[in-house]
Amino acid sequence: MNGGLPGELTGLTAAKSMGNRISKLLNQVAGKRVSGIYQVRIRGLTGKKYISKLNGGPHSPTSIFYSIFSNFSSSFFNPINRYSVPKNLSCRQEPLHMSIHISAQKGSIAKTVLLPGDPLRAKYIAEHFLQSPQLVSQTRNAFYYTGIYKGKTITVGASGMGCPSIGIYSYELFTEYEAETIIRIGTCGAYTTELQLFDLVNVDQACSESGFAQYAWGIEGTAIPHQGKAFTILNETAQSTGHPLKTCNIHSSDIFYRKTLDIPEVAVINHCLAVEMEAFALFANAQHLGKTAATLLTVSDVIPTHERISADQREKSLLPMMELALEASLKL
Ligand code: HPA
Repeated sequence: MNGGLPGELTGLTAAKSMGNRISKLLNQVAGKRVSGIYQVRIRGLTGKKYISKLNGGPHSPTSIFYSIFSNFSSSFFNPINRYSVPKNLSCRQEPLHMSIHISAQKGSIAKTVLLPGDPLRAKYIAEHFLQSPQLVSQTRNAFYYTGIYKGKTITVGASGMGCPSIGIYSYELFTEYEAETIIRIGTCGAYTTELQLFDLVNVDQACSESGFAQYAWGIEGTAIPHQGKAFTILNETAQSTGHPLKTCNIHSSDIFYRKTLDIPEVAVINHCLAVEMEAFALFANAQHLGKTAATLLTVSDVIPTHERISADQREKSLLPMMELALEASLKL
């Protein structure tokens, strides 16, 4: 004790004593759990700290106190102020909202993420293909599950529809979580009978009239290629597993309903064989951030002939695409 009333401490001594208690508490809690953000409360004051199990948890008591309560600490270090160090400290792992649109805890999203548009398709894949799937985020009912496929941790979650939506989810997955590779899995409409119902397409370049890439990142032009090695790995995996797979350019349209069935100019110029609505923004984000991205599509309708996969065929027809994406993930 360094002066003042019994039980009161000042300056560094107080911070060290408080830090010791916090540090012990954090080590106890983090030692038993996964790394994550831990919340500490002292007398109604709340502070947060990211604790990694790998780095052995907190270090110097004063620095731990300082990093949690940096606003509070300048008054703590003032030797004129006296503090009695309270017994009722609490520490718990936070139910975190780590990014604006995804509420998964840090560390709970895998390096490889499969991204269907539809949340219920993400749920289906998690429940049918992953071992021990955990629902890690359900903000806006965009379900994200992390589980194990043949020994590898994989996350599957929903991108929503259109460039703005996948632009948000893929950006947060890449920048706020550990995602290195995103494989979009979706459906497309064929512009030509060169493609048939149920065909599986690996997208070479996504082409669009969308301003997403230009206005977000200053990426000029109407075509953006797949990013990184996932495209090649998908092709190689398709060969080795016997999944017939075609590669081509596709149109990522901003528009689903339009006046005519004419093929839009941007799709003609770029030799796009089919249309969907998301790959362009995914590839733009991945290109800007130096990440890996691919898009696998199943042909669900052939626009010139008006053929389409029926509702009851849909679930089964998407299985080969899901299997191929999962098998390729093992090599990423
Ligand atoms: N337009 C856009 N996206 C699509 C279509 C389509 O016709 N079919 C499947 N996804």
